[in-house]
Amino acid sequence: MKTNWLLLLLGALLCWMIVDTVSNRPLPAVSFQSDTADCWTGAGLNQVPVDAEGEEIRYGRELITNTAYYLGPKGKIAHSSNGMNCQNCHLEAGCKPWGNNYGAVAATYPKYRERSGHIESIEKRINDCFERSLNGKALDSLSKEMRAMVAYIKWIGKEIPKGKKPKGSGIMDLPKMNRPADAVQGQVLYTNHCTRCHGTNGEGQLQPDGITYLYPPLWGEHSYNTGAGLYRISRLAGFVKNNMPNPTNYHTCILTNEQAWDIAAFINSQPRPSMNIASDWPDISRKPFDHPFGPYKDGLTETQHKYGPWPKTK
Ligand code: HEC
Ligand code: HEC
Repeated sequence: MKTNWLLLLLGALLCWMIVDTVSNRPLPAVSFQSDTADCWTGAGLNQVPVDAEGEEIRYGRELITNTAYYLGPKGKIAHSSNGMNCQNCHLEAGCKPWGNNYGAVAATYPKYRERSGHIESIEKRINDCFERSLNGKALDSLSKEMRAMVAYIKWIGKEIPKGKKPKGSGIMDLPKMNRPADAVQGQVLYTNHCTRCHGTNGEGQLQPDGITYLYPPLWGEHSYNTGAGLYRISRLAGFVKNNMPNPTNYHTCILTNEQAWDIAAFINSQPRPSMNIASDWPDISRKPFDHPFGPYKDGLTETQHKYGPWPKTK
């Protein structure tokens, strides 16, 4: 009997200690949405200093969200890109979990990249997207615009330790299927889930100002070119699965992995601008499994590399 009372007393003491620590905890400075609490969401912009450096960071963010307004075909600063915004693919200004975000950039660049066979700076990586994803021209590394975008990307990633990739950064790798991705099935899914915004011909829809897109194009002359990351179907499928139909996040996905692969196969079977990528992947044994252009070390065809099935290992 006595021991029971003692246990009860100890239990009560323990409860009180737990409740007390919880109630004494300071409130978190930033309130995260529960669905993104465990992923990187960028360093708080409300902490950007109100000085010249802060101004540069904010301008960088502005260029990433409204790229076409400044640098598109009718851009007020230059005509360097196809009319899309960086944010069309790097969602929420590059801060959305699994939304192709910039979480790892500040911590992992400069880095060696197999695609070029060189050590690349953030500037070079941004220019890759100008030349491929935005089917445009590289910016001068010293231009005000490039400096600003680099400053912004470094700011939002500044809390990530050197060399680390935070959870939810970039695009998710979906598990590979045992069959080829099916563009015919993908077309049916595209019609059901995507046409209402991106259009029957993947052309998207411009805003009334005719400068920026309300719904960006997915193929055709104004879309990303054949040298772009999204032209690899694993990148497109991973992006679509966790982010589309807009707005979807990785907790509210409606497409299965297989559906995402099939839709990606359909979209990347449609016409788009081509790019000379002859000097990409100088070491052909390092080509990613879904790189759609030969020659390859393994003797598989371009079609199999593009649509699968792929060996499960890499
Ligand atoms: C059509 C879609 C698209 C557009 C538009 C686009 N990008 Fe990208 N970007 C990608 C893809 C895809 C990747 C590679 C992601 C991967 O391989 O996981 C990428 C990668 C990057 C990276 C490297 C990320 C990393 O973690 O290594 C940076 C930096 C970047 N883009 C900046 C930009 C900037 C700045 C713009 C606008 C000037 C832009 N991108 C426009 C699709 C796009
Ligand atoms: C309700 C409208 C809507 C629907 C439906 C929708 N999207 Fe999108 N999509 C958008 C918007 C808006 C963006 C740009 C997001 C941004 O800028 O924040 C986008 C961006 C994209 C992008 C990256 C930019 C580009 O143009 O390459 C891809 C790829 C994409 N969507 C594919 C799809 C696919 C595949 C489906 C169907 C499964 C789909 N979307 C359904 C509105 C939609």
